[in-house]
Amino acid sequence: MITKTTIDRIMEAIDIVEVIGEFVQLKKRGANYVGLSPFANERTPSFTVSPAKGIFKDFSSGKGGSAVTFLMELEKFTYPEALKWLANKYGIEVEETVESHENKEEENHRESLMIVSAYAAKFFHESLLSSEEGQNIGLSYFKERGFNNETIKKFELGYSPDQWEAFSGQALKEGYQEEFLVESGLSVKRDNGGLYDRYRGRVMFPIHGFTGRVIAFGGRTLKTDKNVPKYVNSPESEIYHKSNILYGLYFAKKAIRDEDNCYLVEGYADVLSVHQAGIENVVASSGTSLTVEQIRLISRFTKNITILYDGDAAGIKASLRGLDMILEEGLNVKVVLFPDGHDPDSYVRSVGTNAFKNYIDQNRKDFIIYKTDILLKEAGPDPIKRAEVIREVVESIAKIPDSIKASVFIKDCSHILQIDERALLSELNKMRLAKSKKDAQQGAKQAEQFEELPFEDIPLEKPVREDYSQEKEIIRLLLLYGNKMIDWDGIANTYIGPFMIAELGDVEFEHNPSKKFVELYSKEVENGVLPDEQLFIHLPDKEVVDLTVTLLATKYTLSENWYEMHKILVPDEQVNMKATILGAIFHLKKHKVGKILDNLRTELQNTQGDENTEILLTQYMQMKKVEKSISDYLGSVIIK
Ligand code: UTP
Ligand code: MN
Repeated sequence: MITKTTIDRIMEAIDIVEVIGEFVQLKKRGANYVGLSPFANERTPSFTVSPAKGIFKDFSSGKGGSAVTFLMELEKFTYPEALKWLANKYGIEVEETVESHENKEEENHRESLMIVSAYAAKFFHESLLSSEEGQNIGLSYFKERGFNNETIKKFELGYSPDQWEAFSGQALKEGYQEEFLVESGLSVKRDNGGLYDRYRGRVMFPIHGFTGRVIAFGGRTLKTDKNVPKYVNSPESEIYHKSNILYGLYFAKKAIRDEDNCYLVEGYADVLSVHQAGIENVVASSGTSLTVEQIRLISRFTKNITILYDGDAAGIKASLRGLDMILEEGLNVKVVLFPDGHDPDSYVRSVGTNAFKNYIDQNRKDFIIYKTDILLKEAGPDPIKRAEVIREVVESIAKIPDSIKASVFIKDCSHILQIDERALLSELNKMRLAKSKKDAQQGAKQAEQFEELPFEDIPLEKPVREDYSQEKEIIRLLLLYGNKMIDWDGIANTYIGPFMIAELGDVEFEHNPSKKFVELYSKEVENGVLPDEQLFIHLPDKEVVDLTVTLLATKYTLSENWYEMHKILVPDEQVNMKATILGAIFHLKKHKVGKILDNLRTELQNTQGDENTEILLTQYMQMKKVEKSISDYLGSVIIK
């Protein structure tokens, strides 16, 4: 875990305008900054940053939070990833607590592997650009393939000298440890002890991880010799798990989100060429078949994948099964085939960006339709084979979790297959039924591990949806006034926060973020601390941050017309602080009592005249009294 001192240092260093400014163009407006929402498509800026509070609020998507939340939302970082990104930006060294000796070791180990990889990337990149061999062989190869300087720089392409120890020797000389050089796969250990380079005379493609650090390499030979492997790749290591990585994702993230689509290609060269042509939402699975982890990585940014295939790919049919997996994850899959002999790299270079885009638009097919076409062509007129096609196609459709989407495909495929829609539907239902039976069996197994719930505990009707406005009002007051003093009828000065916490007593909060907020607030108060808004803004818990920011976004700090937009009247609550606070607390209590009464009423309706009725009735009368006394109190003391 990152230490509190480090987190504090990062928080102190953060300039939210600077951080967000790296992703959104911000303009100053009054005390705030505004820009176009990076989370929604909009023409007029509704995305607001308040440097004074260190928060942002996006009025079109409703998202809001601190600089850390922003990075988590936009870059899909985890909390520690976001902190590390910020630490890196502000040159802060990250200390981590020694949770256990092993954890610390493991973390150091990973870090060492990353440092070695970063060093290697720099070594190969410089060798490409500055050494004679690199320029003559590596750079001229890249240039011949049409990669420009910008692409070479951005992707940190490199060249490994055609010698046995050029890299290893230099790395050891500079103090990098043998252990990490070997484990990262950059060096190989000789039987007699020394190290030699894994990559020799190859052009180098560094592979960047989710946060942009180099974690592995692919090195392509420049020889045409069939006995030499075309690519040599880094072995799996603690920082490189092939199945979790997509080549180019770090550079494609933003475009994938903006375009709401991700192009999937096969090779490094395809990513570079397509990216260079200005189509930046492109990633590669790098020769392996797509994994579920890779699909989930993409689905953090978009639900639409378009696969760009070589026209002559012999593996097209083999790949069909893999694509079903994308459907199962609930994503939409389209497929584009390039003319014979072309892959995306060669095609975009031969026809140019515009023609390439047009080609994609005109040849993009939904995966199911594409699959149907291919299988049908293969089956020819043979009726048995055709029946098999139908089964396979419906099998794919059955994987689509959205049943409306599935039924659209059934319609389309019934045309292509020239078979009655109802026949396909009944086939689909059969498969669905089989699948749900299987799922249910698994579910039942899991359920056995838990004790059986008493039947009565299950509410018969869903409770009426509620917006928890009373609970949120309490949080709002704690945030705004919790650390302020109040003069209580001239008797005593009290801090509002601790007073409210004491007054709330054992009121049970039901709205989860509010509940967590109050729990943390109480804990701080118990420790003698008066928490302020900054504590809540910077929590790792997104739910609580969201609530905090939404409540803080008052008309004075953020959008001018927020309150008008939502038709909220804010009475001048500070004039009568006491009424405001007691009002909020008693409104909440009244609401809770109201709910208890509702429940009792339902129970009374269901128990007709047995011995329970009397008990319930007594409870009901008592609660009614409580309700009345709260109402009286609200009526007499508080004008609201
Ligand atoms: P390709 O053979 O299509 O490579 O393999 P490419 O990147 O298009 O290379 P060029 O155009 O001939 O220069 C596709 C991907 O499969 C992986 C690499 O990730 C490659 O980019 N691959 C291929 C390997 O890992 N090892 C190999 O020997 C071949
Ligand atoms: Mn290629």
